[in-house]
Amino acid sequence: MTEVFRPAWVEVDLGAIRANVAALSALVAPAGVCAVVKADAYAHGATAVARAALEGGASWLAVALVEEGVALREAGIDAPILLLSEPTPEGIDEAVARDLTLSCYRAKAIARAARAAASLGVTAEVQLKVDTGMHRVGCAPAEAPALAAAIAAAPSLRFGALWTHFAVADEPDHPFTARQLARLEEVAAVLGAHGLRPPLLHAANSAGALLHPRSRLDLVRCGIATYGYHPTPHHRPVALSPALSWKAKVQLVRELEAGEAVSYGLRYRLERRSRIAVVPLGYHDGVPRRLAAAGGEVLIGGRRRPIAGTVTMDQLMIDCGPAGEGKVAVGDEAVLIGRQGAEAISADEWAQRLGTISYEVLCAIGPRVPRRVVDTGWPGARARG
Ligand SMILES: Cc1ncc(COP(=O)(O)O)c(C=O)c1O
Repeated sequence: MTEVFRPAWVEVDLGAIRANVAALSALVAPAGVCAVVKADAYAHGATAVARAALEGGASWLAVALVEEGVALREAGIDAPILLLSEPTPEGIDEAVARDLTLSCYRAKAIARAARAAASLGVTAEVQLKVDTGMHRVGCAPAEAPALAAAIAAAPSLRFGALWTHFAVADEPDHPFTARQLARLEEVAAVLGAHGLRPPLLHAANSAGALLHPRSRLDLVRCGIATYGYHPTPHHRPVALSPALSWKAKVQLVRELEAGEAVSYGLRYRLERRSRIAVVPLGYHDGVPRRLAAAGGEVLIGGRRRPIAGTVTMDQLMIDCGPAGEGKVAVGDEAVLIGRQGAEAISADEWAQRLGTISYEVLCAIGPRVPRRVVDTGWPGARARG
């Protein structure tokens, strides 16, 4: 690994991942848990998270890309890995060769998977993804019987599951989730009438698993809940702990006179003499440029301090107030997301300020920020926050 000189890093607590998956498993049993570790485990680091999720009780992993599945296989992970969308033809060949479970929704993809498996002399699992109303990917319900029959008829394929994805499960009172579930169950009944009964039926993302118990079926596919966040912060049916903290060390502290302005655009003007701390993280790393204008804060010395002015590409400035308002020195730890003393800043807080969701805040943390794995141990063996 290249040596890292910049004092800025993400900490990922594998104990929290294990505990979250264990809590989800207990909640949804007898359904199983599939930990969704696409997008480098929502920027937490896929390999370490995948291992911790399996230790916590996940029976499946899910990824978006063949490349992501291959990386997990190359790291020695041999658990079932589900591809959430149909890959390109060449991607299908590679997925079969790497024993990744395909989700298919077109006849051509099923035929390609059958040929790839036959030529390798293996049996490949294919799951049929049906679009029940999200209208992203999946076959139309009316197409499902022919596609399922094609999977079942191919000697080199195994029909592993019928599944769908929800569009509004994070809105607990929205009637559309029940409609999507009913459509999935109707398709399953039609397939059943043709003697096509896959071992698994699944639909729920984190919001489904947490807020719509009927949708848990045989397996829930949890991304955000694995990482300790609730899909809707106002509904928390189970205790989850955020696994990720984002930290840096103060690189420079300067005292400026009242009336001076800070950063590009000179939009943050000091009303009093103030100490400005420079933290070595910027928008390239995933701190949105407009976070200061949105009221963004950072923890230093256990206190909330406002971000002073426009976030720049590699650095941001913090207003630590006049001398006397708490100590601040070069080398002090600054927490962008996470806990410090009695204070905590969450990805949900950023999301609320920025008009987005915790997913986008977490996934934006760039690859230039090193990930440090910490491990607070097994659930129950530590105090839960
Ligand atoms: C098909 C599918 N299933 C499950 C998930 C996990 O969603 P969540 O992070 O809300 O649990 C995703 C993520 O977007 C997805 O695309």
